[in-house]
Amino acid sequence: MPTDAAVSEQFLTAVRARRSIYGISDEPVVPDARIEEIVKEAVKHTPSSFNSQSARLVLLLKQEHKKFWQITTETLRRIVNDAEQFKSTLEKMNAFAAGYGTVLFFEDQKVIEGLQQQFAAYKENFPKWSAHSSGMHQFVIWTALESEGFGASLQHYNPLIDQEVKQTWGLPDSWALIAQMPFGKPTARPGEKTFQPLEERVKIFK
Ligand SMILES: Cc1cc2nc3c(=O)[nH]c(=O)nc-3n(C[C@H](O)[C@H](O)[C@H](O)COP(=O)(O)O)c2cc1C
Repeated sequence: MPTDAAVSEQFLTAVRARRSIYGISDEPVVPDARIEEIVKEAVKHTPSSFNSQSARLVLLLKQEHKKFWQITTETLRRIVNDAEQFKSTLEKMNAFAAGYGTVLFFEDQKVIEGLQQQFAAYKENFPKWSAHSSGMHQFVIWTALESEGFGASLQHYNPLIDQEVKQTWGLPDSWALIAQMPFGKPTARPGEKTFQPLEERVKIFK
């Protein structure tokens, strides 16, 4: 890869700018084709252990996105008994549903089990490495979507919703849902973020 300080600085600028954005609307920000390209580029180029490519992504836009948050809302309604607690849950669900799209991050357990059989010495590690790789996919897409002008956040309503999600969109049983990323046009700025002293977190020896 050619070295280019400007490109690396652009990358770090995008890394710095990424935040959890909870206030989102369904106003379009970029053409759908661009969102689709981001998801495909991310899944193609984000690394995985042994290049196993175990990530599976589902992009839900517009009505499909709204359907997803409707499913999640109804699932939570069935299990949250306390009316007051459900009110705040409902507010959260409505805020996510107000967005433009959701990316669902899965990991194909069939791939992971195959690796465990093939490389028995690393058996314990493959599920961890699969989670690491999924996190990398999440980060790439989160940062890319926000660089395009969207606001996004990372949510975890799995495994409660897994079965209905798989049924609704006809997904293979071996796909395990890892995370959900609702996104849309930002309607609210993120709060102040605090940082712990870097000296306590990074040690450099030279
Ligand atoms: C592995 C991981 C899991 C997270 N899970 C959730 C979650 O379930 N719900 C949520 O609202 N935010 C979740 N977050 C977002 C973090 O709370 C957020 O990234 C952190 O507070 C820093 O804020 P920032 O994203 O604005 O930089 C998660 C972040 C990571 C990295």
